Amino acid sequence: MKRIEVKTDAPYEVLIGQGLIEQSGTLIRQTVSSKTALIVTDDIVNSLYGEALEASLVKAGFECFKFVFQNGEGSKNIKTYTDILEFAASKKLTRDDCMVALGGGVVGDITGFAAATYLRGIAYVQVPTTLLAMVDSSVGGKTAVDLQSGKNLVGAFYQPKLVIADTDTLSTLSGNIFADGMAETVKYGILFDREFFSFLNENEARLNLEYIVEKCVCFKRDIVDEDEKDRGVRGLLNLGHTVGHAIEKLSDYGVSHGSAVAIGTVIIARGAYKCGLCKYDLSSEIIDIYNKYSLPVSTDFSAAELLEVCRHDKKSGADGITLVLPEAIGKCRLYKTDFNELLNIIEKGTE
Ligand SMILES: NC(=O)c1ccc[n+]([C@@H]2O[C@H](COP(=O)([O-])OP(=O)(O)OC[C@H]3O[C@@H](n4cnc5c(N)ncnc54)[C@H](O)[C@@H]3O)[C@@H](O)[C@H]2O)c1
Ligand SMILES: [Zn+2]
Repeated sequence: MKRIEVKTDAPYEVLIGQGLIEQSGTLIRQTVSSKTALIVTDDIVNSLYGEALEASLVKAGFECFKFVFQNGEGSKNIKTYTDILEFAASKKLTRDDCMVALGGGVVGDITGFAAATYLRGIAYVQVPTTLLAMVDSSVGGKTAVDLQSGKNLVGAFYQPKLVIADTDTLSTLSGNIFADGMAETVKYGILFDREFFSFLNENEARLNLEYIVEKCVCFKRDIVDEDEKDRGVRGLLNLGHTVGHAIEKLSDYGVSHGSAVAIGTVIIARGAYKCGLCKYDLSSEIIDIYNKYSLPVSTDFSAAELLEVCRHDKKSGADGITLVLPEAIGKCRLYKTDFNELLNIIEKGTE
C-alpha cells in the first residue's frame, strides 16, 4: 500500500493499493474517532462494493448506515443533497460522526458537500471507485452539486480526512468510463512530466494501475499543496477544459467529460501553435495517445458555437478567460486571452 500525504490546512493521507476496501474499516478507524459512519453511494457501486465496505466498517466497530441514490450526473443535484442531509438527520448523526463516499466523482462531490455543510461540517472519507475519482476528484477538497443553470455551481472547499483508493475496484469499470479517467491521467503527463506521458504511451494503463494512480495523486497533491483554493497554479489542471466544457454542454452531456477534455486539449494545442502562441505543434503526439486509449479527438461543433458557450463558462470574466497552453509535453503555461483571440485559436484548432 502506498501512502501520500496532502499538506492542506488540515493534512490527510491518500492510501493506494489492492484489496483496501476489505481493510477500510481499520484504516478509517485509525484516522477518525467517530462512532457512526454514513456510507453514501450509488446503486451500481453499492451492488458491487457496498456490502464489503459496510462489513469492514462494522468489523472495525462502527455503527453503519447507508444512503444509496441512482447513479449518474443527473443525481448530482440539490434534491439528492438534501435527501442525504435529511437521512443523516433522521439517523441522528452528530458532529462526531462521519460520512464515507463510496463511488465515482458524482458520489464524492455530493457527499463532500453534504459533509461540509451538515451541522456546519462533519468528517468524511473518500473511497473512490472510478479512475477519474482516484486520479482527480477525490483529492483536493473541491465538493459540489449542479444547478439547472450549470455544473458544479454550488459547493465548498472541504478536505476529506482520508482517501482510500482500492485499485481492484477499477476492474469492473466499463471501457468508456475507464477512458474518461485516462483523459485526466494523460493530462498530468502533458502538464508536468514527459516521462510519465511516454510511460502511458508505451505501456498498458490497465496493467499498471497502482503506479499510475500514485503518480497522478502526487501531481495533484503538489498543485493542491501550493494552491488549495484555486487562485493560481491549480488553474493548470483546466488544460482542455474550457473548450471541453463547451462540448459537453453543446452535446447536452452526450459527450462525456473525459472525451470532451480530450477534444478540447487537441483543439487548444493545435490552435495555439497555429496562432503563434506555442513553439511546437504537439497535437499529433497528443492525438496518438488519445487514439491508444479510445478517446475522441475532434468535434462537429463550429468554432462560433464553442466560443459562445466558453463566453459563459463560470471561469470567464467580462473580457476574457485564462487558457492553459501546452508548450511542450510536460510543460504548460497559463495565458490570459480575450474572446476574439479565443475564437481565432478555436477556429485554427478545429481546422
Ligand atoms: N471535485 C473535483 O475536483 C472533481 C474533479 C473532476 C471531476 N469531478 C466531478 O466528477 C464527476 C465525474 O466522476 P466519474 O466519472 O467518476 O462519474 P460517476 O461518479 O458518475 O461514475 C461513472 C459511472 O461509473 C459507475 N461506477 C463507479 N465505480 C464503478 C466501478 N468500480 N465499477 C463499475 N462501475 C462503476 C457509476 O455508478 C457511474 O454510473 C463529475 O460530476 C465531475 O464534475 C470533480
Ligand atoms: Zn476534468
